Amino acid sequence: MTNVFDNSGWPAPSGEAGVARQADAGPSASRGPAAAVSDPDPGGHAASVGMAVPTGHEQVVFCHDAPSGLRAIIAIYSTALGPSLGGTRFYPYPSEDAALADVLNLARAMAYKNALAGLDHGGGKAVIIGDPLRVKSEALLRAYGRFVESLNGRYVTACDVGTYSEDMDIVARECRHVTGRTVANGGAGDSSVLTAFGVFQGMRAAAGHVWGTTSLAGRTVGVEGVGKVGHRLVGHLVEAGARTVICDVNPGAVERVRARHPEVGVAADRDALLGSGIDVFAPCALGGSVNDDNLPLLTARIVCGGANNQLAHPGIEKLLADRDIVYAPDYVVNSGGVIQVADELAGFSFERAQARAAQIFDTTRKVLAIASDEGVSPVVAADQLAERRMSEVGRLRGIWLGSS
Ligand SMILES: NC(=O)c1ccc[n+]([C@@H]2O[C@H](COP(=O)([O-])OP(=O)(O)OC[C@H]3O[C@@H](n4cnc5c(N)ncnc54)[C@H](O)[C@@H]3O)[C@@H](O)[C@H]2O)c1
Repeated sequence: MTNVFDNSGWPAPSGEAGVARQADAGPSASRGPAAAVSDPDPGGHAASVGMAVPTGHEQVVFCHDAPSGLRAIIAIYSTALGPSLGGTRFYPYPSEDAALADVLNLARAMAYKNALAGLDHGGGKAVIIGDPLRVKSEALLRAYGRFVESLNGRYVTACDVGTYSEDMDIVARECRHVTGRTVANGGAGDSSVLTAFGVFQGMRAAAGHVWGTTSLAGRTVGVEGVGKVGHRLVGHLVEAGARTVICDVNPGAVERVRARHPEVGVAADRDALLGSGIDVFAPCALGGSVNDDNLPLLTARIVCGGANNQLAHPGIEKLLADRDIVYAPDYVVNSGGVIQVADELAGFSFERAQARAAQIFDTTRKVLAIASDEGVSPVVAADQLAERRMSEVGRLRGIWLGSS
């Protein structure tokens, strides 16, 4: 691939802003977000567009503003259900290819996540290339905001890795299509509150599927990563009477949880956690938590957590199923955060957003039931549900409303 951010800032006319390239196959071209999505976490990005790049995107826009140093790519996978919604990742990608691969994968994953969350939003995502600690500035964020605005609402942006609510406040000075802002500016605040709540609902549903009771009382749950999402999940688990064991590479994060919940056990690392006799494994750190090496250690019957892309590769799904371990797909159970930022667009109501996040219980139950009934993996079942909604509800937009 040529570098579109070359010295002149723009590619040849055929690849100008607007649609830089249109992928060729439909949504079914790849097997689903868990298969296609690159690791969203720093250090785990897809290395090149030659690998697992999903196809079928509606629009991909390259944005460049040399004076502010802005180099961004906005990808819209689908607007079948409404304006595409997804965060802005600010990350020092090793190459433009890596940034493009990531944004394409992430945009597609958002379409599936938003569809399963019952939102009237399609899927989109943006990446800003660069080290946010070095290059983020008011001018750069406002320049980015003007590009988002130029899409006229086809893409609504929010926070992701490397961007914060305060950044969205700045983007909002140039752009109406922003959510995830600070409470002081009418935003909804920290989205991990409802992300953790939604994961807990998904875990209850998975428990019901496996053990015939949604209660987690007396079960042992291992939580890997007790940052914003993980520590809140621990709170729900302790309240529900589950025994909880945690691990985190940051001793400070472990201390914070132990200070609030001294009864919580601590494992030295992920392998120790997996081997500690847990009933449920909840990955809430970075992607790729379940891999070929540690799978033999896993005694849990359920994998259900907040992290994106928990399985190191798609083949892990089958290996889990072979061992009778139920995987609640990450993009089904961790949608509480996007539910929150979507609600903000209508004037945030915590109660309304929480009620919608509570529906993650029903969605997870449905996904696992379809998977069992049809003998497919939960990821395939979830993809089918999402695709059906995008198709059935998206079709309605073709009904002519008459002229006004
Ligand atoms: N915050 C949200 O609303 C939200 C929404 C959807 C998905 N997610 C996903 O959930 C995950 C956690 O997000 P967060 O907002 O809590 O992030 P965070 O940075 O606040 O917390 C992550 C925690 O994981 C720990 N960690 C990192 N590597 C680890 C390892 N190898 N072993 C054990 N612990 C490790 C970190 O020290 C940190 O405490 C991420 O994958 C994120 O993409 C978050």
